Amino acid sequence: MKATWILPDGSERSADVPAGRNLMEAAVAANIPGVIGECGGTLSCATCHVYVDDAWRAKVGGPGDFEEAMLDVTEAERTEASRLSCQIEMTEALDGIVLRVPEA
Ligand code: FES
Repeated sequence: MKATWILPDGSERSADVPAGRNLMEAAVAANIPGVIGECGGTLSCATCHVYVDDAWRAKVGGPGDFEEAMLDVTEAERTEASRLSCQIEMTEALDGIVLRVPEA
């Protein structure tokens, strides 16, 4: 399965992501700049903040309560498309997903 990240400068990077892997880990493995994943996916750093592309938002769904609280303290502006990518797990339904990396 594939995920694509659009960087703040408009360039795109894609990577193959196996089902079950979260999209923070996938970004770190693919050296996507701006997705750091400092806490290792334990929902305590918000350095994996991304904006889910509009076309994918319904499929991805919204944040859980805990994630909701962490999103309030992200460095980049929070929008309705904001998610912490360590909380998005790759599934067949998300094959081809597009995420935008916030300006750091
Ligand atoms: Fe820390 Fe996602 S990696 S909150």
